[in-house]
Amino acid sequence: MRDPHFDKLPFQVRATPKIIIENDWNTNAYITFLLAIDTGLDVLGLVGSTANSWSRQASLHALALLEIGNLSCIPVHKGADYPLLNSADLARTWETLHGQLPYQGVFKPFNATAEASGRDSSSGDPNRISRPAFLEGFPNSTLTGEHSAAWMVEQVRKHPGEVIVYSGGSLTNIALATRLDP
Ligand SMILES: *[C@@H]1O[C@H](CO)[C@@H](O)[C@H](O)[C@H]1NC(C)=O
Ligand SMILES: *[C@@H]1O[C@H](CO)[C@@H](O)[C@H](O)[C@H]1NC(C)=O
Ligand SMILES: *[C@@H]1O[C@H](CO)[C@@H](O)[C@H](O)[C@H]1NC(C)=O
Repeated sequence: MRDPHFDKLPFQVRATPKIIIENDWNTNAYITFLLAIDTGLDVLGLVGSTANSWSRQASLHALALLEIGNLSCIPVHKGADYPLLNSADLARTWETLHGQLPYQGVFKPFNATAEASGRDSSSGDPNRISRPAFLEGFPNSTLTGEHSAAWMVEQVRKHPGEVIVYSGGSLTNIALATRLDP
């Protein structure tokens, strides 16, 4: 049975529904792509973004979750390492001026104890992987690509008017894609 939300999608999307799902994936983020599949959408691929953690850590979570679901046919593209405007240093400076940020995301200061006990990587090197955070298991499959913005543009050009782009992350990759090709 088709999900009732499906019929509310714009007509041209309903004809051949495809979706790219961008997120700062973590251990329990599988709900997004399972819902998309259950709704009858063709998931073109997942994109990992930097938000709660670094995009590489997030993309590896996406790979692991797909593997567990026997869904490794869905490619994963790593997004940009850094946001366009913000940085860990700027976040610290903001806090010096205005007080503690309620949401620090990836700019949360590095805490070895927290990472050893399962927190995703934050601050420092965007390529640093915190393995204890992979409660679902570390992925055995590999990323399809590392230039997600270009890949998204390519997909939207390949299937004009048929692609939904969903972002549950920081929108950096969407911004880059629209800069490449508005
Ligand atoms: C990758 O393979 C290892 C060894 O078989 C397994 O323990 C691990 O759970 C696998 N990872 C995932 C995400 O399935
Ligand atoms: C995974 O998918 C393959 C290909 O569709 C299928 O042959 C296999 O039985 C599946 N494995 C599990 C555990 O569902
Ligand atoms: C680091 O993480 C541990 C475990 O989560 C916590 O108890 C400790 O307060 C944290 N240290 C700092 C400086 O935030």
